[in-house]
Amino acid sequence: MFVRELHLRDYRSWPSADLTLRPEPTIFTGRNGFGKTNLLEALFYIATLRSHRVSSDAPLVRSGATSASVGATVENAGRELAVSLQIAAEGSNKAWLNGSPCRRPREILGVLRAVLFAPEDLLLIRGDPSDRRRFIDELVAQRGPRWAAARSDYDRVLRQRSALLKTAGAALRRGGSDADSVISTLDVWDAQLADLGGQVTAARIEVLRDLEPHFVASYSSIAPHSRPAALSYRASAGPELVPPRDVEPDSETIATQLLERLGQTRTKEIERGVSLVGPHRDDIDIVLGSEVAKGFASHGESWSLALALRLGSVELVRSEGIEPVIMLDDVFAELDAARRRKLVEFTAGAEQLLITAAVAEDIPEGVGGRRIGVNVVDEADGTRHSELMSEATESMDS
Ligand SMILES: Nc1ncnc2c1ncn2[C@@H]1O[C@H](COP(=O)(O)OP(=O)(O)OP(=O)(O)O)[C@@H](O)[C@H]1O
Ligand SMILES: [Mg+2]
Repeated sequence: MFVRELHLRDYRSWPSADLTLRPEPTIFTGRNGFGKTNLLEALFYIATLRSHRVSSDAPLVRSGATSASVGATVENAGRELAVSLQIAAEGSNKAWLNGSPCRRPREILGVLRAVLFAPEDLLLIRGDPSDRRRFIDELVAQRGPRWAAARSDYDRVLRQRSALLKTAGAALRRGGSDADSVISTLDVWDAQLADLGGQVTAARIEVLRDLEPHFVASYSSIAPHSRPAALSYRASAGPELVPPRDVEPDSETIATQLLERLGQTRTKEIERGVSLVGPHRDDIDIVLGSEVAKGFASHGESWSLALALRLGSVELVRSEGIEPVIMLDDVFAELDAARRRKLVEFTAGAEQLLITAAVAEDIPEGVGGRRIGVNVVDEADGTRHSELMSEATESMDS
């Protein structure tokens, strides 16, 4: 698939941008801070309904504006779909599909399948569990609205349950009807949390298992002399929630196990006033040889593992019969010559490859394509905004 048109209004540094893209490599060039990553981030938002850099929407809206909009026309095997999104600095977002309003923004998930490589990818190996949860949830979200629904319902129930846990201790000490009502409300939240948590966990395990063979193959191709790599899901509620490899993850079975675990941890949760078990506390073990890579793998090995997660993600989408849009945000500068070569080799077959670079020399030889210049304009009031260089597109053939 490829993005034919991209339209931005009040998105970060862009008051407006209208771009026509083609199924070919396209390189966005411009100095640091000129707004190149913002363009890719906007497309990534259409694919996943989240930014790869921040967890809330407010920073995406241009300073001084109340909402941003991002629109794209996506072509897949001759079929064209137009999506647009209004991102509000506060309050809920809206989405349109071929001009018709959607009931929920998540209905547009699946229209654009994209894999973004970014300098932050090293965090997939070295960062916190939340970085790895974000990675897996992005893969799950791109599979379509159903999975995203379970995730957002889970978050809502988790917030309500956690709020109750904060006050539960005091109510229980008071005893009487206060205590009874806390216990019966907690029972209700536990049942819902377990049900939704079972769905979220099963979807994550499934995507991780689908990804693993592609990840393993990519890693051994990038680092042929290294130890074998593997992936496994780590459930905070206990290893029994993750079924053996030959058993498909079943959301109801996981929900039953999670509910049981919630019962066992209730006293502790009330004492601490937080939700201690469930998918919001889970992690993915990225294993090298027989050790978890975090705190064990070398710098080079960590980069190879991070690349393998992204390359594996591309192969995962391909295995579903879809060619994803591949975006490389300034990654060449982070990689050594050998890993750069692998990345170039691998992405050469992409239908659409979108690259950003501040320094043209960072783009390896052999990567040709259309070049689009990004500039900034300084306003009299001291603000600045991004703009596209007037058809300053030149061919950068190799
Ligand atoms: N909400 C916002 N409103 C206005 N400007 C913003 C907003 N968010 C970010 N910016 C501006 O966008 C710029 C950063 O854009 P971006 O990250 O796309 O740069 P870049 O071209 O990728 O730079 P680099 O080469 O360093 O990666 C900064 O100058 C920042 O001030
Ligand atoms: Mg950037």
